Amino acid sequence: MGELQIPRPRARPRRLRQSAALRSLVRETTADVAHLVQPLFVREDTSIPADIPSMPGIRRFTVPELEKEAEELAALGVPGVILFGLPTDKDPLARGAYDDRGIAQEAIRAVKRAAPDLVVMGDVCLCEYTDHGHCGVVKDGRIDNDASLELLARTAVSQAEAGADVVAPSAMMDGQVAAIRAALDQTGHDDTIILAYAAKHASAFYGPFREAADSAPRFGDRKTYQKDPANLRESMREIALDLEEGADLIMVKPALAYLDVLRAARERFDAPLAAYSVSGEYSLVKAAAERGWVDERAIVEETLTAIRRAGADLILTYHAKDVARWRQGERHA
Ligand code: PBG
Repeated sequence: MGELQIPRPRARPRRLRQSAALRSLVRETTADVAHLVQPLFVREDTSIPADIPSMPGIRRFTVPELEKEAEELAALGVPGVILFGLPTDKDPLARGAYDDRGIAQEAIRAVKRAAPDLVVMGDVCLCEYTDHGHCGVVKDGRIDNDASLELLARTAVSQAEAGADVVAPSAMMDGQVAAIRAALDQTGHDDTIILAYAAKHASAFYGPFREAADSAPRFGDRKTYQKDPANLRESMREIALDLEEGADLIMVKPALAYLDVLRAARERFDAPLAAYSVSGEYSLVKAAAERGWVDERAIVEETLTAIRRAGADLILTYHAKDVARWRQGERHA
């Protein structure tokens, strides 16, 4: 081989990568703590263990422990939390979900007391409260959509009365956003925000959550209400319907395996868009990090950036508190 004439590059994108400060100046996407919402589990029954084996670092708090956690999160600059109540008793009609003294309602009051500036979101669903583990009412072995709406609406109203700033319906019943908006407005809660779990997929990534909340369906699965992961157009239709019904914020869930859905939603809709990076996403990272196979912080930062780049405004993530701790006192990296 003779002398090779290698052309010198005319464009040099590397020029802008020479220092942390330069990289910071040209960075297109950030995943700041300001965008994160921490999901929190709250238990009524103090005899169940706090630790969740499949979600290291996440706990099932008692109400007093929750107050302390809310204070810590607020001090770290995390702007919001979403609460999941774990009741002692479950029954076919999920009475604990819309009980004014229920665990979610007590948790909402506790957080509002401890950290009044935190945005408090309540998950509105029945599965943690039903003995059969489904997100709606069961009739003749099937999930009765319309019979579930009133219970979901009552749940949302009782969370709003307890002080929730945001109610987040996640049962995937048709018409649930309209039912909740009407019920909130009729009870004087016109300022209560609805975050619709609009494109919520029937996903295996919810496995660890169902262990944490003891909320797996006792028969069948959730595929008749949660949507088919294979369908993108159907996600757009679900989101459009929820916006028509009065959703203020829309959500895609899970996040990492659904970045294309987030991107499509971002391009199609102007409403603020949330992504829920769910329990299974968290557990995968934790398990690999515990084995020393990945760098936990780097994986989390990269993943959150990807979710934001795909189009999410806010991200619900179990890593929120860790990210806030990592970022404390730091400048650009
Ligand atoms: C309630 C609900 C679930 C999640 C959020 N709300 C469980 C489910 O649908 O089975 C999952 C969250 C997670 O996995 O982190 N329906």
